[in-house]
Amino acid sequence: MNICVIGTGYVGLVTGSCLADVGHRVICIDNDEGKIRTLNAGQMPIYEPYLEDLVRENRTDGNLSFSTDLARGAKDSEVVFICVGTPPLENGEADLSFVEKVTREVSTTADFPKLVVEKSTVPVQTGEHISRTLKIYSGGKKSRFDVASNPEFLREGSAVLDFFHPERIVIGVDNPRAEDVLREIYRPILEGRFRCPVHSPCSSATRPLFLVTDLKSAELIKHASNSYLAMKISFINAIAEVCERVGADVEKVAEGMGLDPRIGKEFLKAGLGFGGFCFPKDLQAFVRIAEKCGYDFALLREVEKINKARIETAVEKLKKNLWVLRDKTIAFLGLAFKPQTDDIRFAPAMELIRRLRLEGCHIRAFDPRAMKKASAEIPEIFCGRDAYEAAEGAEALVLATEWPEFLDLDWTRMRGVMARPFILDGRNFLPQPLVTSLGFEYVGMGR
Ligand code: UGA
Repeated sequence: MNICVIGTGYVGLVTGSCLADVGHRVICIDNDEGKIRTLNAGQMPIYEPYLEDLVRENRTDGNLSFSTDLARGAKDSEVVFICVGTPPLENGEADLSFVEKVTREVSTTADFPKLVVEKSTVPVQTGEHISRTLKIYSGGKKSRFDVASNPEFLREGSAVLDFFHPERIVIGVDNPRAEDVLREIYRPILEGRFRCPVHSPCSSATRPLFLVTDLKSAELIKHASNSYLAMKISFINAIAEVCERVGADVEKVAEGMGLDPRIGKEFLKAGLGFGGFCFPKDLQAFVRIAEKCGYDFALLREVEKINKARIETAVEKLKKNLWVLRDKTIAFLGLAFKPQTDDIRFAPAMELIRRLRLEGCHIRAFDPRAMKKASAEIPEIFCGRDAYEAAEGAEALVLATEWPEFLDLDWTRMRGVMARPFILDGRNFLPQPLVTSLGFEYVGMGR
């Protein structure tokens, strides 16, 4: 099929390249000329495992192209995916101005009936607004557009894997025509007929479930899923607080809880809390959506509050152990909001660094991917060439992102370069028995 993907952020770029890889002809549109120039020069604006190869191969094969010309891209396509950003407004609500703007532009391009799919994370009932806008701006005659919702569940750092091996593909439609088109688009994934870019050969035999709902339910599934996952993380972080007060170990508690299949072991990692451009903003937006329809979602407000308090808990731990924070040098291992990404948006590491700088601390850091973006945001961070250089002269080492390579560090060497061998393990990730046996003071989160 000829598909136009509007927006080349994480979601649009991954979706567009993967759809091209399963055999569709995809044009990705962005109004950021610099970004399109970068992509057309064969470079990537973000780091995401396997994405660069996918983009290169599919551009070479002629299945994937990039342009700023929305009108042309949409005109030539049977299906348009809207993947533009929905950043938070001051009051926490999602800013839908990009969605509205591209919808108006698409409305003028219907040479033949086409399907407009909302993939951006949007409040429930956005589909209705999109439908109405398409109708009004295309001349008000019988609309030649169908609208569907197709929420994405991609995780940064494993987005390509998630695209090819989803547990479910959710679509919200209001007529069978739209369902047929989306089923056709995803047929290769549903039938396992694709070349898996992650595993070769691909051993996964499980096929995703294709869940068809009405538009509004599909829209809600996205916000409900992200809020639920965020709630799980805040729940275990609250348990971590109790563990510390009574001398229990949250890692053991999480293990014991997770063995119950009704609970499950995923998303029970206590630590500095969740960050990234999804959970914090989606949670706030969902609280506002509920408020607007007359429901006070107090549970989710508490989830947010617990998450914010994790940063303060970390500051208190450092204060308790270092006594005075002013003029202390603190080294960070990890800046990204999670491993395998260079994304630092709402990263707990960055929040903690900002807070420690207010206390008068000097910050050194190492992250395998995120240092460029972090320095652009806080230029005062000294970035080391490796973890050892970052830790030189530090009175504390904070593990903020659990990059697997940090497990292979030489802790004897690390102890040698630090002014004081103190570790705050913000993700309960480092080998505690080993580091304590080498003379480090070790403090975790909830143990
Ligand atoms: C999340 C969801 O997992 C995806 O399903 C969804 O599609 C995406 O948001 C989105 O809405 O676009 P993502 O933000 O990429 O994906 O990252 P996650 O792996 O969910 O991690 C989010 C944050 O929670 C990270 O800061 C991570 O460190 C933290 N986390 C995660 C914990 O603190 N504990 C855990 O047990 C799990």
